[in-house]
Amino acid sequence: MTPSPPRALFLHSAAQLLTLAGPPVPRRGPALGELGIMRDGAVLTWRDKILRVGRTRELAGEARRLRARLVDCRGRVVMPGFIDSHTHLVFAGNRVEDFERRICGATYEEIARAGGGIARSARLVAEATEHELVAQARRVLDEFAAHGTTTVEVKTGYGLDVANEMKILRVIRKLQRTALLELVPTLLAAHALPAKYRGRPQAYLRLITQQLIPQVGRKKLARFIDCFCDRGAFTVSQCRQVLAAGLRYGLIPRIHAEQLARTGACRLAVELGAASADHLDQSSDADVQTLAQSDVVATLLPAANFHLGLRQYAPARKLIEAGAAVALATDFNPGTSPTLNMQFILSLACSQMRMTPAEAVSAATINAAYSLRCANRLGSLEPGKQADLVVMAVCDHREIPYYLAWNHCAMTVKRGRIIHSQA
Ligand code: NIG
Ligand code: FE
Repeated sequence: MTPSPPRALFLHSAAQLLTLAGPPVPRRGPALGELGIMRDGAVLTWRDKILRVGRTRELAGEARRLRARLVDCRGRVVMPGFIDSHTHLVFAGNRVEDFERRICGATYEEIARAGGGIARSARLVAEATEHELVAQARRVLDEFAAHGTTTVEVKTGYGLDVANEMKILRVIRKLQRTALLELVPTLLAAHALPAKYRGRPQAYLRLITQQLIPQVGRKKLARFIDCFCDRGAFTVSQCRQVLAAGLRYGLIPRIHAEQLARTGACRLAVELGAASADHLDQSSDADVQTLAQSDVVATLLPAANFHLGLRQYAPARKLIEAGAAVALATDFNPGTSPTLNMQFILSLACSQMRMTPAEAVSAATINAAYSLRCANRLGSLEPGKQADLVVMAVCDHREIPYYLAWNHCAMTVKRGRIIHSQA
């Protein structure tokens, strides 16, 4: 049994309240570093929404009238919950074998060609029951919540046939009904070419565009459509087919772009009005300009570079200085990024890509919300928005990335309800 939420919460006396207040548009350039910091800040929630934001003493009277439950945030940072806008949450088992082979010298692409990689995860998903997949994902979601994440985008992509992609979508549906976090589903059937389609990619693409996408679109099982546009995966023109088919059924494109090789995926993202182009490690200066002049969010996933042991990271500074809308996400997946900790992503963004702590916070909240098309409801602390927030056990937001690989999250509130609280 889950306890009914208190009707009002009063989180008060925060050392820093990061409001990120502003219009529900992506923050670019200098605006990315503006957190709207309030000292001695307070948030008063009513049911699932934020009622008021201000100084503790300005809100105390109303909090008393509403008999709000008090949460003393002295010496702590209160901020919007993290929005993880790129994950591959639903998979079976793990890929520690790949991990060890890479340590011994094999590359990600060599392992994939030898039948490891995504194909291995697809075999494990095919063998797993829906119940097992739900159970594994739910355990992970509890960890997401305990680390301060309140919304998670979830891709399919380890099904690689109609039955198993649909199975993953049903798993996501089930999790949406029962999990405390909010899940945003994305269809990523064009993740890898299944072995039995070797030499005939068009046959697999027909399966996706003529069978899978119409079903998913009609049943509204996904909001977005994604594809792995890269060397060893799918070409720009193949991805254009998939994403355009998705668009016809109301699925908004996102793209795995310029990760292993530069392919032109950024340009495709802009051409199709994609919500997001993700990874961007190999993007050129021209790609940076193309993205900067568009509404496509440049979503950076530095934990994948870190886990793969790469020296090169996406050009975050160039993107920010050109005026692109930059977001950060975990890319949580068994192959390249087995972390769910957005605080660690902030650390990598700062130390490896030279983003400032404030820029990293905006990228992991309001800009990520924008890329999921929910910035009018999520991503900042403002009256009328959903009461999704976290209390961090630090008194300055810069300490979040500074103390790397810690978990500072003391409390997580989702839709006005405390879903995680440190003892
Ligand atoms: O985002 N690049 C493609 N997809 C994932 C990796 C998936 C896997 O290796 O299982 C990524 O890095
Ligand atoms: Fe990914």
